[in-house]
Amino acid sequence: MIIDIISGARPNFVKIACLIKELKNNKFFNKFKIRVIHTGQHYNNNMSNIFFKELKIPRPDYNLNVGSGTYAFQIGSIMQKYEKIINKKIVLCIVVGDVNSTLACALIAKQNNIPVAHIEAGIRSNDLTMPEEINRILTDSISNYFFTTSVTANKNLIQLGISKKNIYFVGNTMIDTLKENLNSLKKPSFFNKFLLKEYNYILLTIHRPSNTKNLNSLRLLLENIVKFSKLNKIIFPCHPRLKKNMNVIKNISNNIIITNPLSYLEFNFLLLKCKVIITDSGGITEEATFLHKPCITLRENTERPETIEIGTNVLVGNSKNKLKKAFDELDRGLWKRGKIPAKWDGKTSKRISLILERILRN
Ligand code: UD1
Repeated sequence: MIIDIISGARPNFVKIACLIKELKNNKFFNKFKIRVIHTGQHYNNNMSNIFFKELKIPRPDYNLNVGSGTYAFQIGSIMQKYEKIINKKIVLCIVVGDVNSTLACALIAKQNNIPVAHIEAGIRSNDLTMPEEINRILTDSISNYFFTTSVTANKNLIQLGISKKNIYFVGNTMIDTLKENLNSLKKPSFFNKFLLKEYNYILLTIHRPSNTKNLNSLRLLLENIVKFSKLNKIIFPCHPRLKKNMNVIKNISNNIIITNPLSYLEFNFLLLKCKVIITDSGGITEEATFLHKPCITLRENTERPETIEIGTNVLVGNSKNKLKKAFDELDRGLWKRGKIPAKWDGKTSKRISLILERILRN
């Protein structure tokens, strides 16, 4: 019997690392072949391989090598390629998060009568301009088992008519990985070169099409960040999507330090030691909440409301006023410390493994 675990993009690797370990540690799963499937959605060394190495994720059994392309190309190609390695022995397909690989593989599994377990199910931004939101809605609509990170996600699923008995509030596998690696975080080599001081620099990530498509708005956003951050250095690990616009970004200020995408251990070192993180990622708002780090989110909405309600996150969207207000609060030392959401305790993967054992025994 086979269990497939699907991953394709950077945040997926972080979510599957501890889960695979837990499944391998649980004797019940000895009788299953656990296949790690990498769709190849992310393929550069620093977007993919380094995560497998640092997080000690077993080498993928299959790499579908799909690469980059439009939404249709990526989803279509992953579906075709995954279909080719589907067989009758597969008893469960585990998908995580909301990337194109998640939806594509869930669809193929379901078409082949293979039950689908969705990890990080039920979260909603209600913003249908985000490809991830569409992926979430569609993946949840065909999944059999729903593992959630919050009570809000449970409520969202119940509202859709999903039976409570298939919804499991287990916590956050991303936090399992962060907790496990907290003592091994790595100072990037440029830290001393750029004379960075702990708690005295800003960490910035921007990758969403909504923030990167329009170069003038991106430039304005960066200019405002530079202005409000006063003399603090800004470390900006750039997603490959921004590569072609590097010239525009480079000339804005000497205080912006642009780097290649960082490894997991390096990025989270910088997150732990920064003064504030400014981001448009969803996962990073969760990591910031866990680390009690001030977090400014460059989005109008979030599918992770707990990071705002009880965590350290504030949404500023593209409002200059809100961004300024956030910096004022930070400078006055008024930032909320936040609390860690329930079950974000490093034991989520273990819970999932025990629940899956129960499901597969029946
Ligand atoms: C994907 C996810 C997003 C997640 C993000 C993390 C979807 C819809 N989006 O977005 O939810 O937050 O990953 O990074 O699945 N590229 C490379 N090398 C790589 C990977 C990408 O050069 O290894 C470039 C390609 O030019 C590509 C662009 O980056 O066109 C975007 O990659 P893509 O996989 O389409 O989506 P992400 O923006 O990374």
